[in-house]
Amino acid sequence: PDDLRELAHKLKVYIGSAIDVTALADEADYRQVFNREFTHITAENAMKWESVEPQRGVYTWEGADAIVRNAQRNGQHVRGHNLIWHNQIPAWLTEGVADGSIDAKELRRILRDHIFTEVGRYRGRIRAWDVVNEVVDDEGNLRQSIWLTTLGPGYIADAFRWAHQADPHAKLYINDYNLEWNTAKIAQTLNIVKDLKSKRVQIDGIGFQGHLGIQYDYPGDFPAVMRQFTDLGLEAAITEADVRMVLPVTPEKLATQADYYRNMLSTCAANRRCVEFTVWGFTDRHSWVPGVFTGEGAACITDENLAHKPAYDALLGVRRA
Ligand code: G3I
Repeated sequence: PDDLRELAHKLKVYIGSAIDVTALADEADYRQVFNREFTHITAENAMKWESVEPQRGVYTWEGADAIVRNAQRNGQHVRGHNLIWHNQIPAWLTEGVADGSIDAKELRRILRDHIFTEVGRYRGRIRAWDVVNEVVDDEGNLRQSIWLTTLGPGYIADAFRWAHQADPHAKLYINDYNLEWNTAKIAQTLNIVKDLKSKRVQIDGIGFQGHLGIQYDYPGDFPAVMRQFTDLGLEAAITEADVRMVLPVTPEKLATQADYYRNMLSTCAANRRCVEFTVWGFTDRHSWVPGVFTGEGAACITDENLAHKPAYDALLGVRRA
């Protein structure tokens, strides 16, 4: 294959990227490379609750609409990210819960409305939704959040039921980081999936975010972990792949990074139920990493000028096992 789009067709795996909606609108080179190379799109921030409903009842769909429109014009599928998370919740909501002006009954109604409004708006146009994002912590407990604290653990099943009613054809996912290797998180996430299935609540997919760093060993158990979930009948996706490094960049580090990317895509290509490999940004020009991990960066498959890094070429070399 000459590019990622050809590779995606060959592997029969959608290849996607998270997208910064401002860059998509303002940077022609960013837009052109993205639309040439990718068959799947995720909004990096534009579909999150604080982006779509910054004030109560005031909806700002411009960014989310731009993502869906770009997908329709360029033959891409969409991952809706996300419906429920403990971050990027609008201030009116967190403050209302904190000061008691929003009680449990009302919070449940607000959550239901949010899911019906957002999923319903894009009904038929979103391939897969991250219904719940990062709801298990690294100790393997259900994550503390306004959802768990106020509504109890049943909010997860409710969210999947509502999302399914709002768009019966969308694939509904649970998505998390460190799920490639953290045994406590894996066990609890398997419990959630089995519990939903035992209640006949529809859940279709497991999302492995795939945020790795070359200063840590590659998670060699990842193929077996993915298999544990797909053996339950779920489809799988790698939803936010990136591979950060401690700066400065060296040729050796780029080679290691390339191996990590290749291994992640190979894991997907080797599992018949893995349908999507999405990177969390395709260029070091726009990446969340330097802002969060001091001294780290260069996590993407192209550099600031969109030049291919060894990781890009490594992906092109992946074959179906
Ligand atoms: O939009 C405001 C802007 O108005 C303001 O001037 C600026 C000043 O800080 O902030 C801007 O908001 C930022 C937003 O990204 C949009 O760029 C926030 O500060 C910043 O915290 C936010 O970061 C996002 C992060 O999620 C929030 O937790 C990252 O872009 C985004 O890549 C990251 O994505 C998450 C996934 O959703 C879930 N998995 C982990 C992944 C990485 O953290």
